[in-house]
Amino acid sequence: MLHGRRILLVIAGGIAAYKSLELIRRLRERGAAVRCVMTAAAQRFVTPLAAQTLSADRVYTDLFSLTEENEMGHLRLSQEADLIVVAPATADLIAKLVAGLADDLASTVLIASDKPILLAPAMNTRMWANAATQANVALLEKRGVTRIGPEAGPLAEAESGVGRMAEPDAIANAVEAHFVAHAALRGRKALVTSGPTEEAIDPVRYIANRSSGKQGHAIAAALARLGADTVLVSGPTREADPPGVRVIHVRSAREMLAACEAQLPADVAVCAAAVADWRVETAAQKLKKKGAPPALKLVENPDILATVARAGNRRPRLVVGFAAETENLVAAAQEKRVKKGCDWILANDVSAASGVFGGGSNDVRLVDGRSVEAWGRLSKRDVGERLAARIAQFFDRKAAE
Ligand code: C5P
Repeated sequence: MLHGRRILLVIAGGIAAYKSLELIRRLRERGAAVRCVMTAAAQRFVTPLAAQTLSADRVYTDLFSLTEENEMGHLRLSQEADLIVVAPATADLIAKLVAGLADDLASTVLIASDKPILLAPAMNTRMWANAATQANVALLEKRGVTRIGPEAGPLAEAESGVGRMAEPDAIANAVEAHFVAHAALRGRKALVTSGPTEEAIDPVRYIANRSSGKQGHAIAAALARLGADTVLVSGPTREADPPGVRVIHVRSAREMLAACEAQLPADVAVCAAAVADWRVETAAQKLKKKGAPPALKLVENPDILATVARAGNRRPRLVVGFAAETENLVAAAQEKRVKKGCDWILANDVSAASGVFGGGSNDVRLVDGRSVEAWGRLSKRDVGERLAARIAQFFDRKAAE
């Protein structure tokens, strides 16, 4: 499955471009988001409107279009993709990629990108057999570009031979295989908390907070994309359950703690939930509106992060907490790291001006025992990706030790 994957599909000019329309459908059926770039030649074979309709996104065609540059620079096109698929990859575009030429949007996107590239070549059999094409493909493969096809069979020009683009389903399988091969956290178990908690006042009323759960959910989704067996313990949120993640829905802090403890041991725990610090000594019956307003007695809630971080031999190898602060961010984060007994703290500024709480982006610093890494302003999705990649790196290094 390709849920949550973002594919940038570069369609170059060849008759096989008609199969790329089918590829868009196949990728989307498997859950991927597909955005298309078309070369001028591709537009002679299929229309941008067809690609736009099938991808449900706009299609990018022109390097020099000011409006397109304003809305979406060529750098962002690749930044917002997890994988670039070039289908069909023509002899010409392959040669440009080898030589580093960038004279249109498609070639510029490819050269300005650090994202993995999968080529699905399609061309006349003699063009494919040509020594230049063969040398170009070999060189690209040496540089880490992957390839599917071309295949043997009847070609458009009433010839037959090697040159047909791989079928859309086979390309979609290769896309899935790419993500499986890059699943750096396969075999690891991850536990993530997310969202607010609700603390009952009486059977109908509760105290909660404004946490949206966006960040915790994005982290769980990113860990699952890297192949981790991911359990998300979530308080009440409006966020959809992330695909590929086992979600346990809870309300109160105590329920959240019990659900987390039941998931230990795990390899990594990320506590992103905004757990209520206090709960109310609950009234068994609904409080009546008579006489003076009731005084609520608050009692301390368990600290889930500190409990998980001090779980003895059930403690995850890596425990990550958040510090939402409005001032002295790093100092407070360092202090919190020690107090809670966790390994890393992601410190974020939640002052009203930052718009982080409930918003779509975050401004994070990763604080461990030795250093502070400022990540700058990123979408919550990108924070999730970055954290998941850092977690993968941590286990990689541990494995090498
Ligand atoms: O102490 P403070 O709430 O600032 O700490 C924030 C971190 O601790 C977050 O990672 C949060 O998920 C976690 N936490 C928790 N249980 C609590 C309070 C906070 O897991 N009761």
